[in-house]
Amino acid sequence: MRRKVTQMAAVRSRRLGRRRSMAENRIIKADNLELLRSLQGGSVALIYIDPPFNTGRVQARSRLKTVRDDANPDRRGFKGHGYRTQKMGEQSFSDRFENFSDFIRARLEEAYRVLHPNGSLFFHINYREVHYCKVELDRIFGRECFINEIIWAYDYGARSRSRWPAKHDNILWYAKNPARYTFNYDAMDRIPYMAPSLVGAEKAKRGKTPTDVWWQTIVSPTGKEKTGYPTQKPLPILERIVRVHSNPGDTVLDFFAGSGTTGEAAARLGRSFILCDNNPQAIEVMKKRLAFAQPIFG
Ligand SMILES: C[S@@+](CC[C@H](N)C(=O)[O-])C[C@H]1O[C@@H](n2cnc3c(N)ncnc32)[C@H](O)[C@@H]1O
Repeated sequence: MRRKVTQMAAVRSRRLGRRRSMAENRIIKADNLELLRSLQGGSVALIYIDPPFNTGRVQARSRLKTVRDDANPDRRGFKGHGYRTQKMGEQSFSDRFENFSDFIRARLEEAYRVLHPNGSLFFHINYREVHYCKVELDRIFGRECFINEIIWAYDYGARSRSRWPAKHDNILWYAKNPARYTFNYDAMDRIPYMAPSLVGAEKAKRGKTPTDVWWQTIVSPTGKEKTGYPTQKPLPILERIVRVHSNPGDTVLDFFAGSGTTGEAAARLGRSFILCDNNPQAIEVMKKRLAFAQPIFG
């Protein structure tokens, strides 16, 4: 009887040990080139990156709080009460590069090396830089490894009166081996038909599979998902990528991690993550956001 209990405990601890090593999540504060050079070749199943877009500006987001202040208000509200906006803090990172192509090329070459032979890389950028980045990626991966350009379409913010308002980002998907890569078709989420009355009730209820144009609202400025970090990307975008392009237990890498959206998607879907950012504010945000995934810091 005692032997049986000991054996059961040993099995449980082996299982726990396996789970712990499968779920080893890491957050690293470093220049990502340094991190990439330290990673083993072919060790990562999926890479998603959302580098600074080279806007030439500092990307900043302030945390604001409205306080009641009848003596010194900056606006009046209900029943004429006075209110004032207080700045609680600011998070920012620089988005200005001497030579963006050189910067990104060095990192993409390393990313290619650490990607598993059947792995995929997703590169999130905007309309100003996408063409230059595609040329770099074609050179590093080979043109035949380019699989899709995904357009993330949103509709928020100011509308230009002098040109078509730019309300999309571009996400380039490259597979290391275009003949063999992870694409979990059945794991795709379903979206509503535009004209449900034109398809049967059963189809309308099931919804349709997405195309390469993904409609998704930005992270709501007042919602629960918001971390306050500038340029935070919506979780559903990352969840779709992680679900379809990796398998449970795989390692997902994001070396421009920001607020850690990729890490949250990976951990919630049973993948492990490696996240890197050189901004201490990003590390603080991730520490809070990803505490549930018990990451190791380095
Ligand atoms: C556009 S943001 C990423 C936002 C992220 N996708 C999210 O959802 O929050 C780009 C990030 O890259 C980081 N970054 C820029 N250069 C870096 C470098 N050389 N090494 C590591 N991180 C870097 C910035 O600090 C910033 O947090």
